[in-house]
Amino acid sequence: MSSFIINGGKILNGKVAVSGAKNSALKIMAASILGSSKVILENIPDIEDVNTMVQVLKTLDAEVKFDRGKNILEINSSAIDSYEAPYELVRKMRASVLVAGPLLSRFGRVKVAVPGGCNIGARQIDLHLKGFEALGASNSIEHGYVISSAGKNTKGCAGTGAHRLTGANINLDFPSRGATENLMMAAVLAKGETTINNAAREAEIIDLADFLISMGADISGVGTDCIKIRGVKKLAGTKYRIMPDSIEAGTFVVAAALCGGIVEIADAIWKNLEIFCLKIKETGIDINRTSDNTIIIKKTAKKLKPVYISTLPYPGFPTDLQPVIAVLLSTAPGISIITENVFENRFMYVEELNRMGANIKIDGHHAVINGVDRLSGAPVKAFDLRAGAAMVLAGLAAEGVTEVYDIYHINRGYERFEKKLGSLGADIKLVNQTDMNV
Ligand code: EPZ
Repeated sequence: MSSFIINGGKILNGKVAVSGAKNSALKIMAASILGSSKVILENIPDIEDVNTMVQVLKTLDAEVKFDRGKNILEINSSAIDSYEAPYELVRKMRASVLVAGPLLSRFGRVKVAVPGGCNIGARQIDLHLKGFEALGASNSIEHGYVISSAGKNTKGCAGTGAHRLTGANINLDFPSRGATENLMMAAVLAKGETTINNAAREAEIIDLADFLISMGADISGVGTDCIKIRGVKKLAGTKYRIMPDSIEAGTFVVAAALCGGIVEIADAIWKNLEIFCLKIKETGIDINRTSDNTIIIKKTAKKLKPVYISTLPYPGFPTDLQPVIAVLLSTAPGISIITENVFENRFMYVEELNRMGANIKIDGHHAVINGVDRLSGAPVKAFDLRAGAAMVLAGLAAEGVTEVYDIYHINRGYERFEKKLGSLGADIKLVNQTDMNV
């Protein structure tokens, strides 16, 4: 068990670079299953979720080599001989279900543990399964596993895999990112044309499509809500660089807004964060881009202004930055309101923030934030990845010492988080339980 100890109130200054995007890397790693030869991925972040996806791929008998120092991952899926993503890995990381689309597409069969709910919501996979069915697969749920097969489904095993999926017209009830990705990967080797209507439009979807296209897939319309995929017979290996992580960039934006100084964030792509950056501007923070991929934040003497925020799929305000911006708004005098529209349970961190002196009330899917003069350091826990990052930011801004527990959540998605913040001047220390016992 490790924690972060933060001595708050230090001014942040300098330059920090954003790592590769977790939510792109994980899907592209899963998509590597589709290639008949080696895939080389650059800019893979060295984070826990990537380690879990490496384990998933190894469980399927793929060969995987991760050069952490260089952030390069090599995947060779030619020897895959297993079609099962086991519960212990899916339970650890829901994104493991993203191997279902590629396995079904390439081998006509898959058995994947049903993920169940998590700390931010129920997070079903019904839209993924409905889409597989539309593509001609049959699904059954047995003993906590979904078994999908493009051939005839046999009880307890993932079908014969003798058939290919068939292109179809799919209408998503909600622009789910995971469903869009799983179905896009399922359709690339299907017979004929697939259309995904009401598709998700996040930059990570475009990154995944660009990767698939570099393998030989035929995809158009990504970045719009209507994606067209014309199935091809085979996909080859490729070399590809993962896009930078917008949510990490947004996290550093808020750290700087709370504690800067002048902070320059490299590999922060403004257009992927536009509505977030505009909301930051609305609070009175001086935020600008010096190029398409550099954002600069300067401390302003003025008091912050409260704002209203509603989370929505892209191009709306990203739900993953909701807990992070709540910390900033908790110090903006007046009433801010955040409405969470994507997940039903993403305010678990609020009680922890209130223990640090924030004044936030939850009413259904709204958080009513009454800005306070200052936060005060306290022991708090990370409920999930972004809630954990929010606690760290609160600690940086607070008076006194904050200890953030359960930081394994944070390590799932932020590469060298405390080191990057430390390089900007934050006083943050990683403490292992064993150090504390000495
Ligand atoms: C992705 O999750 C991200 N995870 C999440 O980031 C992010 O919060 C989320 O998209 C929304 O932007 C990864 O990319 C690994 P969805 P995903 O399918 O794909 C409902 C982080 O902190 N839904 O777009 O699982 C679902 O319950 C993480 O990095 C169904 O009802 O999100 C949710 O309410 C956390 N049925 C909404 O749709 C389905 O079949 C959006 O989910 C699928 C989804």
